[in-house]
Parts: sequence; structure tokens; C-alpha cells
Amino acid sequence: MLKTYKENNFLTRSKDFLKHPGAFIADKSKTYGESFYLRIPLRTVICTTDPNVVKHVLQTNQKNYRKSFAYKQLRLALGMGLVTSEGDFWRKQRRMIQPTFYKTQLEDLFKGMFEETENYVAELEAKRGGEIDISEEMMHLTSNVVLRTLFSSGNDLDPKEVYRQMTGAQEYMVHRINHPFGIPFNYINGRHRQFLKDKNAFNAKIYELIDSRKVEENPPNDLLTMLISAKDAETGEGMSHEQLRDEAVTIFAAGHETSANALAWTFYLLSQHPDVVKKLRKELEEVLDGRTPKFGDLPRLQYTKQVIEEGMRLYPPAHAVGREAIEDDEINGEKIKKDTIVLVSIYALHRSEKYYENPEAFDPERFTPERVKARPKNAYLPFGAGPRMCIGNHFAMMEMQLILASLIQKFDFDLVPNQNVEMSALITLKPKKNIRLRLV
Ligand code: HEM
Repeated sequence: MLKTYKENNFLTRSKDFLKHPGAFIADKSKTYGESFYLRIPLRTVICTTDPNVVKHVLQTNQKNYRKSFAYKQLRLALGMGLVTSEGDFWRKQRRMIQPTFYKTQLEDLFKGMFEETENYVAELEAKRGGEIDISEEMMHLTSNVVLRTLFSSGNDLDPKEVYRQMTGAQEYMVHRINHPFGIPFNYINGRHRQFLKDKNAFNAKIYELIDSRKVEENPPNDLLTMLISAKDAETGEGMSHEQLRDEAVTIFAAGHETSANALAWTFYLLSQHPDVVKKLRKELEEVLDGRTPKFGDLPRLQYTKQVIEEGMRLYPPAHAVGREAIEDDEINGEKIKKDTIVLVSIYALHRSEKYYENPEAFDPERFTPERVKARPKNAYLPFGAGPRMCIGNHFAMMEMQLILASLIQKFDFDLVPNQNVEMSALITLKPKKNIRLRLV
């Protein structure tokens, strides 16, 4: 029988939980166990860090679990793209889009990624000797990378304006998720109207890009062309105009902030671990001998990969995934009522002493192939698990290896002293304010 967390009253409890669900669950699971009930207004939640529960909900019996309330709110901005769709519709879309992320296609996408990174290194050179906010820098870089791999160069999207619109939309979605009772007020106070204005302006640009791409004689081999050419294997049909928009926007939204946060946290960790930087540079020197990495070099940058994996263990950009039981169920002998939310805290799982010795310490050696094999598979979930696992995981790893390797070869990143770096766990796990590093 699972224990129930009952401390404090309903409202204080929800407030503590919402402040940082991962830290809350990591702390309470010490007393209440790997899975425990949390009763908050209107909902019953099972918080879990148990790899067996993860396997049941995300894999074995995943058909009985739909995405929870938060994802429904995201639909307002993302439409019915891969992140927010469900059931047969999602399955059809996933089947169609999956080949876009196969290795041969990734090699084509690498070229745009490489050029964006090279341009960025040149931009950063001008800032040498000064202070930078690494989270803002990485957001700018990964947003350019994903815009470039989606739409190639030459589109007239203004990255700064896209960034403003996307951030505004995200803040609004988070507000709706965290204040469900306040949703009607947004329709009175102008917030919803501003959201629609930005969304319509953004959509108009995306539709223009889709239209012109469809008639282009020699289209570039970017994600948009791949999405346009994707056909359903059974019916031979492609995606509608609206569906192309939803999938492109979904890829943009899912694909830049996550990687940006993973990189920002990794640079933050590296700024405090010169021994790891030394080992990283040794690998880069041996494999690359001073040049920038090519696609074929990436599998040989094993330690670089381990550094990123360890960064995402301590700071998983997607810190939790939530599912809702469609029908009554039973997990590990525990009856689960229909509509119960199962919240897998990736953050708390990654910091569990049960699976990681000295879990708060930054140690990339945890990700040597032998040590990975020795751990339960579902004890490390930065990209989720099961059929709805991140479709962009290889894209993201390739991008992060390229960026980390390119920057660490050229610059030192020193932590500016006396700053209080805190986490903010909204949709992604990001720094509350900023992380200031001195670029040397
Ligand atoms: C470090 C970077 C990234 C992290 C940590 C991450 C994490 C995740 C996680 C945990 C999920 C599963 C969510 C769930 O089960 O509820 C997911 C889904 C998804 N991600 Fe990522 N992601 C990253 C990068 C990317 C990139 C680069 C792209 C695209 C280029 C992408 C596109 C998607 C899409 C489309 C889905 C929905 C898949 C589906 O349900 O079929 N992600 N991601």
C-alpha cells in the first residue's frame, strides 16, 4: 500500500510542490517511499521515482495512460503536433516523421548545425574577456540551430522576434497550467488576446514558408522538406497544411530550449570542475587535433558524450513526465483509480541514492559503457521512455556534442563568484535568473 503525503493543508502543499516538483519529490520520497500519493486540489497524483512504475506506465501498459492536463494546455500553442497528440492520430504522425530523424538524414542536418556553430564561435570571440549569461547564449544558439535545420537559411524569420513570441507563449501556457482556476481571467485581462496576436503573426510566416517550399524546384534537404515529403506507409497520404505547421512548431519548441538548458547547466558544472575540463580537452586533442568536429568524429567523442549525459542526470531539461490513467489499473499490486495522475520525476530519479552513489556529485565516469550496463535501464530518462520517447534524442546528442566540443576547444568558462544560481522548474528545468560566466 502506497503512503500518502499529508503534511500541510491542500494549498500550502500544492505551493511547495509547484515551486520545484523534482526537489519536493526527491525530498519526500526519502520518507514516503519511491512512489507516494499526493492529494492536491481536484487531483490525485502518484509521484514516482520507481523504474518499475516507469516501465509499466510509459511502456508495458502505456495504452492505458494518456498525457496529463499540462499537455492539453500546450495544444493551444502547439496544435496537434507529436508532443500533444494522442492515440491513432499520434501513432500515424510518429510513423510518418520517425524516418526524418534516421542517421542518414541527421548527417544532412549536421551541415546546417555545423555552420551555425561556426558562426557562433566567431560571435563569441568578440566577447572574450567579458562576462556572458550562458543560458541566454545557449538559447540563442540552439534556437538558431533548430531554425536553420528546419527552414534552412534565407527565410525571413527574425530569430529575436520568434524567440519573443515563443517565450511569451510558453509563459502563458505555464501560467494556465499552474493556475487552472484563473484561466477565465486571461480572456478578460488581455493576456489571451496578446497570445493569439503573436500566434497569428507567427503562423502567417510559417504558412508562407510552407507554401513557398512546396513549389520550390530544388528544395534544400532540411526538416521542413523532410516533413513535406513524409507519406503515410498505408495510405500514401502526406500531411495537411495545418499539420505541417503544428509539427514544425512542435519541433522548434521541443527542440531548442531543452538542448539550451542541458548545455547551460553542463557549462556551469564544468566551470566548477577543472579536472573534467582537462580530461575533456585531452579527448578533443586526441580525436580532433585542434579542428572542429565532423559528423563522423562524434562516435569517437565518448567522454564528451559522458559529460553531457552526466550534466543531464543532475539537471534533466525535461524534469518530469506526467500521465493520466484512462481506466482503473494495478501497478506492483497497488490499485490505481481511473484519472489518477502518475508523475514520473526524472529529476528525483536521477538524484536517487538507490541508483547513483553520492548522487549530488558531478562525475561523468558514471556513464562509461560498463557502468551504464550495470544500472537498471529506466534509472536514466533524460529523453523519456517507451513509444513516446523523444524523437529528437540523436539530433540533440549530436548538436550538444558538436557545440560542447567546439566551444571547449576555444574558450575557458570561469564561474563569476558570489552568485546564487537557482533552478526554475517550469516546463523545462532552467536557471531561475541567469548563470554568469567569464569568457577567457
Ligand atoms: C536535450 C534535449 C532534449 C531533451 C532532454 C528532450 C526530452 C524529451 C522528453 C523527456 C520527451 C518525452 C515526453 C513525454 O513522454 O511526455 C520528449 C519528446 C519529444 N521531443 Fe524531445 N528532448 C530534447 C530534444 C529534442 C529535439 C532536439 C527535438 C527535435 C528536433 C525534440 C522533439 C521531441 C518531440 C517531437 C517529442 C514528442 C515525441 C512523441 O510523443 O512522439 N526533442 N523530449
